[in-house]
Amino acid sequence: MERTPIIVKTFHGLEAVLAEELKALGAADVRLLKRAVSCTGDLALIYRANYELRTALRVLIPIHTFEASNERAYYRAVRGEVEWSKYLDVSGTLAVDAVLSGGIFRHSQYMALLTKDAIVDYYRDRYVRRPDVNPEAPHLRVHARIHGSKCTLLLDASGDSLHKRGYRRDTVEAPLNEVLAAGLVLLSGWNDTGPFVDPMCGSGTIAIEAALLAANIPPQRTRSSFGFFRWKNFDRKLWERLKAEADARAKKPMFTLYASDKDTRARNATAINLLSAGLENLVQVQKMPFEKLVPPAPAGVLITNPPYDERLRTDDVAQFYEAIGNHLKRHWSGWTAWIISSNRDALKHLGLHPSQRMTLYNGALECVFQKFELYEGSRKA
Ligand SMILES: C[S@@+](CC[C@H](N)C(=O)[O-])C[C@H]1O[C@@H](n2cnc3c(N)ncnc32)[C@H](O)[C@@H]1O
Repeated sequence: MERTPIIVKTFHGLEAVLAEELKALGAADVRLLKRAVSCTGDLALIYRANYELRTALRVLIPIHTFEASNERAYYRAVRGEVEWSKYLDVSGTLAVDAVLSGGIFRHSQYMALLTKDAIVDYYRDRYVRRPDVNPEAPHLRVHARIHGSKCTLLLDASGDSLHKRGYRRDTVEAPLNEVLAAGLVLLSGWNDTGPFVDPMCGSGTIAIEAALLAANIPPQRTRSSFGFFRWKNFDRKLWERLKAEADARAKKPMFTLYASDKDTRARNATAINLLSAGLENLVQVQKMPFEKLVPPAPAGVLITNPPYDERLRTDDVAQFYEAIGNHLKRHWSGWTAWIISSNRDALKHLGLHPSQRMTLYNGALECVFQKFELYEGSRKA
């Protein structure tokens, strides 16, 4: 496959780190979009993007863009303007989804159905038979993106969303999305540059993503399949070579990572997930309330996702954040702490001045990710 446009989807706030990741893989024409990054690359880049990018949710290949201002024109373009047999054999299976904005077309499910009908009719015209629909594991997953009258058809190279790394065997309430957790670590700038701690680790997602980064292990090492495995042009030799090359770049981190939680179930979930990711030797796990946790070194980076407790009485959550702030001020000077929370009022009770803040989304919850430099004087801040 020669050079092709590629669109990689991510979360709001992670576009710039994703762009850096793509440049490091050799992508050209890298441009930041809303919750996505566009670039150009070849088949090797598509495979590597799926396997190696930490902040990608999905890798999409736009194959056709056209204007349509009504359903008939849309149907005709999908049926007549794309050589679908290049991508899918008539005996293969298909899934389609559609995302609409801008007002001309109104029902995304209907537009997905219309897209599917148009593709199926393309095959009927030529082969009498037609590909079946398989929403779970199709040979070809097609996304229709329609903004006003501008319509784009894209092939989904990822299949399942790339946050499904394959290592999560156990979980606790409110686990972070793996892509967001990796984004937090990359946004903090930590990369095996000192000891790392998540003192409220839950199921361990932040510590696991940090350990994968520190050890230069591809985030999808434990995932067993990608959408492009079922593509007509799947080049197994190329894939196996690229995977082996990426796996061979793994290294032993210089620094230890630490994950702790006050809850036994969370401690156990983290241990199980670390084991399934093959990282059990890189991260020390313990059951410990943060209020009693002592820093393992004079300096390092702490990244954590405390409970937001929007439903608790304000007093309780305020007191809890105040206790976190006090403990950081008294015992963690020399460290840099990063905290993500949707509870802006509670964050004020930390009693610390952030030196940086970013807006991110944890699911539908708007959150702030704040950086606190802890030094002797920060007690007075
Ligand atoms: C939102 S969850 C963290 C989820 C985690 N990031 C993940 O991906 O699974 C918050 C965690 O903080 C823990 N926690 C609450 N209070 C704590 C405390 N005082 N000390 C240590 N852990 C605490 C809870 O047990 C819970 O596991």
